[in-house]
Amino acid sequence: MNIDFSFQNPTRIHFGRTAMQHLPEELANFGSNVLLMYGKQSIKKSGLYDEVMNLLHQAGKRVCELPGIKSNPAYRQVLQGAQLVREHNVDLILAVGGGSVIDCAKAISVSAYCEGDPWQRYWINGEKVSNPVVPVASILTMTGTASEMNAGSVITNEELKVKQGRVFPLELVAPKFSILNPEFTYTVPKYQMVSGIFDIFSHLMEQYFSGEDDCVSDYLLEGDMLALISAARAALKNPQDYEARSNIMWCATMALNKILALSKTQDWEVHQIEHQLGAYTDCAHGIGLAIVSVPYYRHIYRYGLHRFVRFAKNIWHVPTQGRSDEQVALEGIACLSSFIAELGIPQTLREVGATEEMLPLIAESCNKCGGYHVPDTAEVLEILKACY
Ligand code: NZQ
Ligand code: ZN
Repeated sequence: MNIDFSFQNPTRIHFGRTAMQHLPEELANFGSNVLLMYGKQSIKKSGLYDEVMNLLHQAGKRVCELPGIKSNPAYRQVLQGAQLVREHNVDLILAVGGGSVIDCAKAISVSAYCEGDPWQRYWINGEKVSNPVVPVASILTMTGTASEMNAGSVITNEELKVKQGRVFPLELVAPKFSILNPEFTYTVPKYQMVSGIFDIFSHLMEQYFSGEDDCVSDYLLEGDMLALISAARAALKNPQDYEARSNIMWCATMALNKILALSKTQDWEVHQIEHQLGAYTDCAHGIGLAIVSVPYYRHIYRYGLHRFVRFAKNIWHVPTQGRSDEQVALEGIACLSSFIAELGIPQTLREVGATEEMLPLIAESCNKCGGYHVPDTAEVLEILKACY
């Protein structure tokens, strides 16, 4: 644990079948004006909208609504929400949905009282937030991003074709409380379920493939990966398996609520590539990550060979006897590729709508970072061509 840290996560989690019972007591901690945000249709179809609305009214709240938050939330929706917050003097932003709705809620929280252009100040310049922020809370319906317990907010500026993440300080925008009932995820379509599962796996790998020291966080990351693989297989067989869906939900929250990153350097280049892929194609986040991951890791494994060998041994149980480190590492990546196939995830960029002309634009515009190696534009282009 070579990197010093201070850590506190302010989100109170209510987890399980009875989690919603805690909503009234949580609502009592906030003023009476609530902005209720949600996605396109799923919460109305499932009946969750009516349930939440009833509880809000019983708690005496005045509710204004921002429906229709799209997957890969758009900056124009952030500005719309910021205006609603000012007009209605909102005391609490309640996001009901997946990562997109929660990310958008956080963006609205910091933008409502920002002077100047929040996109430029907070997502591009990375400025410190000094204006007042509005508390955010969430009721999670789709698992993957861990937005329910972190301070990340990934927003797409559609005009500029830029999808950019910002990690704010936890105390500022991490949800004050989040309600996690795994049963709410039963209605998530399979395509979205596997997208979320791979998003979790990618978060774990982005943190794992970096660093040379013997760090407890790496052991915890391995534990979360193993739990996720097992739960994913069970959920594929039976999507209504409570044990599987609840394990996936908690794997997701743990994977990116900062605990597993403590004292670690990290990679995050797969996410940077996916973000620009998303800006050009609007693909589902976890699907884009899965397509890019295998060629990315085949490209960089030599720079962190010992860690890729450990991944192969500890996660995929690849036999090592009589084999070189290079062979073991490559077999570990092959196992990752098989897992993606097992999840039924598309394997090429074409399948998510990318065209050949987009590849250089994506390579050029994505941020460059890395754990064992930072690829340049030419290398990213090579990676993209390898999965086109
Ligand atoms: O819009 P509705 O009708 O609600 O449908 C949604 C949406 O189409 C549907 N869905 C959600 N819950 C459902 C459901 N359908 C049926 N039943 C339910 N219970 O699922 C679709 C996807 O939802 P979305 O919120 O877009 O998915 P996800 O949670 O994967 O969020 C993706 C966004 O989060 C960002 C991604 O980049 C992307 O913009 N990320 C946020 C992070 C963070 N805050 O730390 C980190 C991640 O790496 C990621 O970048
Ligand atoms: Zn992600």
